Amino acid sequence: MADTTEATDLTDQAANPPSARPGPEVLVIAAHPQIEHSRINRRLMRAAAGSAATVEVRDLYALYPDYLIDTEAEQALLESARLVVWQHPIHWYSMPPLMKLWVDEVLAFGWAYGPGGNALRGKDLWLVATTGGPEESYHPDSYNRYVFDAFLPPYEQTAALCGMRFLPPLLLHGAHRASETEVAAHVGVYTHRLASHPNWPELDELLYGLACAVPEDARPDDSEST
Ligand SMILES: Cc1cc2nc3c(=O)[nH]c(=O)nc-3n(C[C@H](O)[C@H](O)[C@H](O)COP(=O)(O)O)c2cc1C
Repeated sequence: MADTTEATDLTDQAANPPSARPGPEVLVIAAHPQIEHSRINRRLMRAAAGSAATVEVRDLYALYPDYLIDTEAEQALLESARLVVWQHPIHWYSMPPLMKLWVDEVLAFGWAYGPGGNALRGKDLWLVATTGGPEESYHPDSYNRYVFDAFLPPYEQTAALCGMRFLPPLLLHGAHRASETEVAAHVGVYTHRLASHPNWPELDELLYGLACAVPEDARPDDSEST
C-alpha cells in the first residue's frame, strides 16, 4: 500500500521558512499531483532531499495544495541557487498543472526575463522527468509518434529566455515497468548528480544559449494600456 506520509515529510518547510535558512545551491522544484500513487517521483524526491546539505526540495503540491504560490519565497530561493531542477512526471507531453502555474507566476517579466529580468542569468536548469510510455513508444512508428526530444523545446527556450543553461535531461521512460534494479540505479545517478553539480564531466562543453533579449517596448507600459 502506498505510504501517504512521505509526500510532506521531506523537510519541515512550514516550521522553517525559507527566510530563516541560508539559500540552497541546488533547488529542486518537484511536482506530482498524486504523490501517494507515485512509484518513481516519490523516491526521487526523498532521495534528493537526503542527497546533500546544499540541496533543497520544494514539493509544490504539498506546499501549495490551494494553488496559491508564494512567488516572493520561490524567487528568494531561486536567487541563491546555481542549479534549478524541475522534477515531475510527464503529463500530456508536458508538466503537471501546478508546475506550470509555478512557471507562469515565479518566472515573472522584469525578474526572470525582459528588461531588468536577470535574476536567473547564468544558472543551470535541469529537467528530471519520468514517462509512462516506454522509450520505444517515442518514435514515428509508435503511439507517441515523436521522439521524446520533440517535446523539449518549450523547456529549453524557457531556460534560454531567462539566460539559463539547459542541461541534458535525466529521463526514466516506462516508469511503471522499470525493474527495481533500474529504478535504484536511476535514483543513484540523480543523487550523485545533485551532490556533484557543477562538477559534471560534460558541463564544460555545454554553452549558454543565444542571448534572448526582449526589447524594452515588447509590452505596453501601464499608462498606454489604460
Ligand atoms: C494525467 C496524466 C497524463 C499522462 N501523460 C503522459 C504522457 O503524455 N506521456 C507518457 O509517457 N506518460 C504519461 N502519463 C504517465 C506518467 O508519466 C507516469 O505515470 C509517471 O511518469 C510515473 O511516475 P510516478 O511513478 O512517479 O507516478 C500520464 C499520467 C497521467 C496521470
